[in-house]
Amino acid sequence: MSPTTSVVLVGLTLLPIAFAGTATLLASHFNGAIFTLSLNTQGSNGTGTLAITSASGGCGSTPTWLTYYSDTKKVYCMDESWQGYGTMAEYNVSADGTLTVTGQAKTTGNDVHGTLYGGPAGRSYIATVQYSPSTLTTYALPLKAGPDPPFTTPLQLVKFTIPAPGPNERQDVPHPHEALLDPTGKFLLVPDLGADAIHIFAIDAVTGNLTACPDAKTAPGDGPRHGEWWSPKGNTTSSAGLKLYTVNELGNSVSSWTVSYGACLTLNRTQTISTFAGGNIPPSTTFNNASFPPKAAELRIIGNFLYAANRNDKSFGNQTDSLAMYTIDSRTGALSWVEATSAHAFYPRSFSVNKAGTLVAVGGQTSSSVAIIARDTVTGKLGALVAWAQVGGQGTYTNEDGLSSVIWVET
Ligand SMILES: *[C@@H]1O[C@H](CO)[C@@H](O)[C@H](O)[C@H]1NC(C)=O
Ligand SMILES: *[C@@H]1O[C@H](CO)[C@@H](O)[C@H](O)[C@H]1NC(C)=O
Ligand SMILES: *[C@@H]1O[C@H](CO)[C@@H](O)[C@H](O)[C@H]1NC(C)=O
Ligand SMILES: *[C@@H]1O[C@H](CO)[C@@H](O)[C@H](O)[C@H]1NC(C)=O
Ligand SMILES: *[C@@H]1O[C@H](CO)[C@@H](O)[C@H](O)[C@H]1NC(C)=O
Ligand SMILES: *[C@@H]1O[C@H](CO)[C@@H](O)[C@H](O)[C@H]1NC(C)=O
Ligand SMILES: *[C@@H]1O[C@H](CO)[C@@H](O)[C@H](O)[C@H]1NC(C)=O
Repeated sequence: MSPTTSVVLVGLTLLPIAFAGTATLLASHFNGAIFTLSLNTQGSNGTGTLAITSASGGCGSTPTWLTYYSDTKKVYCMDESWQGYGTMAEYNVSADGTLTVTGQAKTTGNDVHGTLYGGPAGRSYIATVQYSPSTLTTYALPLKAGPDPPFTTPLQLVKFTIPAPGPNERQDVPHPHEALLDPTGKFLLVPDLGADAIHIFAIDAVTGNLTACPDAKTAPGDGPRHGEWWSPKGNTTSSAGLKLYTVNELGNSVSSWTVSYGACLTLNRTQTISTFAGGNIPPSTTFNNASFPPKAAELRIIGNFLYAANRNDKSFGNQTDSLAMYTIDSRTGALSWVEATSAHAFYPRSFSVNKAGTLVAVGGQTSSSVAIIARDTVTGKLGALVAWAQVGGQGTYTNEDGLSSVIWVET
C-alpha cells in the first residue's frame, strides 16, 4: 500500500480560543490501512495542518473499528471482512504514533466492534461482535501473534436469533453492532440493530465467561447501533443517576435509559429524540433505483453535551452531512435539541473528541476524510474547521468503502 499525503490548510475564521500544539490520530480505512495522522495547530488564528505520517496493515482486508487503551498504549483493530474470515489485530503505539503488530487472531469475519474486559485490570479478554453472522465472540488475551494464524479458538460464541424480522427491511436477522462495557466492568451490553434490543451479559471477571441477562427492548424499528454512559457528576463509576444513551441508526434518533444494578444490569428507556430538528428526517436519495435514507452513525458525550452524527442527510450540501448537538439536563438527564452543524464530511461514520474537549475529529466514510472541528468547552458548540485532509482513496456513494474510523492517541 502506498499512502498518499494530502494536507489542506484551512483558516477562514478567527477563534476565541488558542490550542497550539501537536496531536496524533489514527484512522482506519476499508482498503486495509491504518493511517497515523499528525495534527499541528498553530495557535490563536485557529488553523492547523493534518498530515499522514505513516500507514500500517495487519488488520485484514477491511479495518472498521479502532480502540486505543492509554494505560497499555495498545490499539485494537476489528476487520469487517465479508469473506468468511477476518484478522483482528493488536498493536503497540509508539510515541510518534507508528504501529507495530503485537498480536493477531483469525476470526470468523464481519467483526464490527470489540472491547477488552475481565481479569484483574479489565484487560484479559476481548469481546467482539459480528454484524451479519449475528454473533458475539470472546477471546482470551494475549492474541496469538503471527501473520496468518489458523482460526483462533474463541472462548465463547453466542448466536443471537429473532422470532421474526423487524419492521425495517434491514432487520432481517439480528445485527449486533457494538460490545460496550458498563462503567463497573461487570456487564457487557450489545446494541443490536436487527433485533431492536440491547443484549446484556453478566461478566465472570476471572474466567471471562458471559451469562445472558434479559434484553432491554428499543421501540420497533429503532435499530440501535452504539451507546455511551453519562452521570450527573461526570463520574460514571458512581451508579447514582447513571444513564445510558444509544444512537438508533434506523430510527435516526437518540434514546436515554436509566440504569439499575442487581444480579443483572437493567435498563429502562426514558426518552427518544430525533437526530434532526423537529424530527424532520431529510429525504432519502434514490440511486441505482434503490432508496438510501439518512442513517445515524455515532454518538459522543462530553460533560452535559451529547453529539450524534448523521450520514447521508446532506444537510450542508450535496456531499456534506450534519452533526446534531443536544444538552443533557444535569439533574434529570433529559436531552434537549440545540442545533445541527456541518460534519465537514460525507457519511461521517466515526467521530471522537480530544481529552481537552477542544477539538472534534470527524471521519467521513465516502469522502474518506478527517475533519478537525473546534469545540467551545463552555457552550459545547462546534465551530470552525481547523484542518481537513483526504485520507486514502475516496469511497463510492452507498458502498461500504472509504474511511471507517478515527481516534485520538492521547496519554
Ligand atoms: C496561522 O498561524 C500560523 C502560525 O502562526 C501561520 O503559519 C499561518 O499562515 C496562519 N494562517 C492564517 C490563515 O493566517
Ligand atoms: C510492545 O510494547 C511492550 C511494552 O513497551 C514491549 O515490551 C514489547 O516488546 C513491544 N512489542 C513489540 C513487538 O514492539
Ligand atoms: C459460561 O456461561 C454459560 C452461560 O452463558 C454457562 O452455560 C457455562 O456453563 C459457563 N461456563 C463456564 C466455564 O463457567
Ligand atoms: C466516582 O465514584 C466512585 C463511586 O462512588 C468513587 O469511588 C470515586 O472516588 C469517584 N471518583 C471521583 C473522581 O469523584
Ligand atoms: C421506567 O421509566 C418510566 C418513565 O420514566 C417510569 O414510569 C417507570 O416506572 C420506569 N420503570 C422502571 C421499572 O423503573
Ligand atoms: C432502473 O430501472 C429502470 C426502469 O426499470 C431500468 O431501465 C434501469 O436499467 C435501472 N437502472 C439500474 C441502475 O438498475
Ligand atoms: C451529488 O453527489 C452525488 C454522490 O453522492 C453525485 O453522484 C452527484 O453528481 C452530485 N450532484 C451534484 C449536483 O453535485
